[in-house]
Amino acid sequence: MTRSAIVAGLALGLLATGAFAAGDPAAGKLKAAVCSACHGADGNSVDPVWPKLAGQGAPYQMRQVMAIRSEHGRANPEAATMVPMIVNLSDQDLEDISAYFATLRSTVEAADPDLAEDGRRLYQAGDAGRNIPSCMSCHGPGGRGNRLAAFPALGGQYPEYSAKQLRAYRDGSRTTDPAGMMREIASRLTDADIEAVSEYLSGLYQAGS
Ligand code: HEC
Ligand code: HEC
Repeated sequence: MTRSAIVAGLALGLLATGAFAAGDPAAGKLKAAVCSACHGADGNSVDPVWPKLAGQGAPYQMRQVMAIRSEHGRANPEAATMVPMIVNLSDQDLEDISAYFATLRSTVEAADPDLAEDGRRLYQAGDAGRNIPSCMSCHGPGGRGNRLAAFPALGGQYPEYSAKQLRAYRDGSRTTDPAGMMREIASRLTDADIEAVSEYLSGLYQAGS
């Protein structure tokens, strides 16, 4: 990860934040019924194919929803199931819904301790020998992400979902990341790294706010 890529990513993240009007969580609560079937009424889905959205930053959610709706940058069979559910919603509806899910609290999973220990080391320290940066430097010590920069929260997420996304960055099928920052990092991760770090993340406590 070069310094310029990080700065470019930050700038894009801030741009994304400014590009949308702030959503209204109270209005979003009513509008979120259409999302609940998959993502759960409280933003904690019951099946790992559906990511938890509880506590996820609104600017990041908006960027993903736009990518999924346009079937650009994140097209895959699972994402395709969401498209018909959102095509008729306005940008304001999606802003409100994202603002609502951001206020909720994510549940955590029971991570396997041995696997999670390997994942913790990689998450916190990276691996200088393989030019892998610390994940924590962007995603935060508690996995809560950075809302302003649209760095997603990862704590409590289903390990199957996180691993799928890391593989998608690695094979280049997910291209939503500004300046290719996650594609570059994921290209250096082994299957064992992905499994371990995803397991660790699933057990990280993530407070709602
Ligand atoms: C039919 C099931 C379904 C419904 C209904 C649905 N989604 Fe999704 N959603 C998915 C799936 C599956 C993914 C993960 C796609 C992937 O693996 O790339 C996803 C991903 C997302 C993401 C990206 C999460 C992340 O961490 O990157 C957001 C944000 C999102 N959905 C918001 C919504 C909103 C808002 C609604 C309602 C307006 C909604 N979804 C309705 C299935 C659904
Ligand atoms: C330079 C900052 C940065 C670093 C370092 C970084 N990430 Fe990311 N990560 C991001 C950004 C930005 C995104 C969202 C990109 C997008 O919109 O697709 C992201 C997305 C993700 C996602 C997808 C989340 C979701 O809900 O779909 C996972 C999983 C992830 N990162 C894991 C990691 C792991 C594991 C590491 C360390 C090996 C790491 N990241 C290091 C910035 C970073």
